[in-house]
Amino acid sequence: MTNPIFVAVDTPDIAAARALVRAVGRHVGGVKLGLEFFCANGPAGVAAIAGEGLPVFLDLKLHDIPNTVAGALHSLAGLAPAIVTVHATGGLAMLAAARAAAPVATKVVAVTVLTSLDDDDLAAAGVASGTAAQVARLAGVVRAAGLDGVVASPHETAAVRAAWPGAAIIVPGVRPAGSAVGDQKRVMTPRDALAAGASVLVIGRPITGAPDPAAAAAAIAASLSA
Ligand code: C5P
Repeated sequence: MTNPIFVAVDTPDIAAARALVRAVGRHVGGVKLGLEFFCANGPAGVAAIAGEGLPVFLDLKLHDIPNTVAGALHSLAGLAPAIVTVHATGGLAMLAAARAAAPVATKVVAVTVLTSLDDDDLAAAGVASGTAAQVARLAGVVRAAGLDGVVASPHETAAVRAAWPGAAIIVPGVRPAGSAVGDQKRVMTPRDALAAGASVLVIGRPITGAPDPAAAAAAIAASLSA
């Protein structure tokens, strides 16, 4: 089994990011770089981290008109990220344009409902059906647009996997048994998230905030095959 753990490197500090990747690289399958890192270091920073040799998940959550999102993906094409994110609420045409503009080998996956939103937030935006139904509805749009998969909370993973067997399902909010939950509300252990159907486990602070990040990553990797 290829290692499904992508370590979330949430820092603007490129030296710290590089040091962390060098420390944990043997124990993870890839690196997730998000807006904090990208806004500070740009494509050159992403290329520098990619140069460490691990697949890069570029979590930019693009959301704009189709032409602009396609242009953004053309601009990023030289980085050849393993995974890139867009927002499902951008609509079918935007999603299809994103898939067409990205390199063939790049998985384009969509965020359905941000985990920071609850049913009240959706109702305020005119969505009365609640989070679970909205995730399922948007996952159908993402699939119809020809994307590779979705980002899903651990508790949505099994339902998405059942409805879309071939999806790449990227799962954050994963916490090893006994670790601090932090601001993640709906967590699951790495092993349970895999069993629910996750393709990729995004794990940040349980690794990056550990006294020994390499040991933490190794322990999580071992827990998946134990
Ligand atoms: O530190 P932690 O393990 O909570 O990091 C999870 C990573 O996944 C962070 O980079 C966070 O921004 C991201 N993420 C998330 N929930 C989502 C989408 C992305 O926690 N729905």
